[in-house]
Amino acid sequence: MATIKGFLFDLDGVIVDTAKFHFKAWQRLAQDLGIHFSEEENEQLKGVSRKESLEKILSWGDKSLSANEFEKRMAQKNEWYLELVQHMGKEEALPGAKSFLVEATKLNLSIGLGSASKNALLILDQLAITPLFQTIIDGNKVSKSKPDPEVFQKGADDLGLPAESLVVFEDSLAGIEAARRGGFRTVGIGSPKVLKDAEIVVSGLDKISPVEVINQLNF
Ligand code: BG6
Ligand code: MG
Repeated sequence: MATIKGFLFDLDGVIVDTAKFHFKAWQRLAQDLGIHFSEEENEQLKGVSRKESLEKILSWGDKSLSANEFEKRMAQKNEWYLELVQHMGKEEALPGAKSFLVEATKLNLSIGLGSASKNALLILDQLAITPLFQTIIDGNKVSKSKPDPEVFQKGADDLGLPAESLVVFEDSLAGIEAARRGGFRTVGIGSPKVLKDAEIVVSGLDKISPVEVINQLNF
């Protein structure tokens, strides 16, 4: 088994509590389109790009839109999302996230971000944690959405490390699948019932330390 050399973090739902804002904005849009949308459907959108999320919502409602209308709806969702995150302060960082990152840095681990969001930099800046990442791969840098491993592979390439030496922290089904497909080690953030395929599952980064992650994965 390869030695753990670094961590790759998803953003929404792992480092910051923005998953709830994505949910609210999609719910508002689905309502507008007359499509049923609850927490259950939302689970399938976590980690998925904006475009693919709208495609899924439309397919659930058996609806289609012209290309122009599709673009407008995506822009609308993002506008609503940004309205919600606009007033977000540092307190929206999830419990333990920042200290986990700082502790990992002290252990000389390489740290990267692997997020589907095109708003990732804005959110990291708002939380004042951008400098903690050696590489930031976001929705603007990938062509394939999770569960494709591209976002994590690009992060690994930037860090110059092989997948098996990197741990991916993810709150989404799609993200854990992406990490597994790419050959990364996995820590699920959330419910063990949902994130069954992750090697370790904790409810938040406040529940485990970087050293514990490494020890448990090396066991
Ligand atoms: C992921 C979220 O991180 O980013 C998804 O889990 C979201 O809910 C996706 O749809 C894309 O985000 P954005 O900010 O580019 O619309
Ligand atoms: Mg997420």
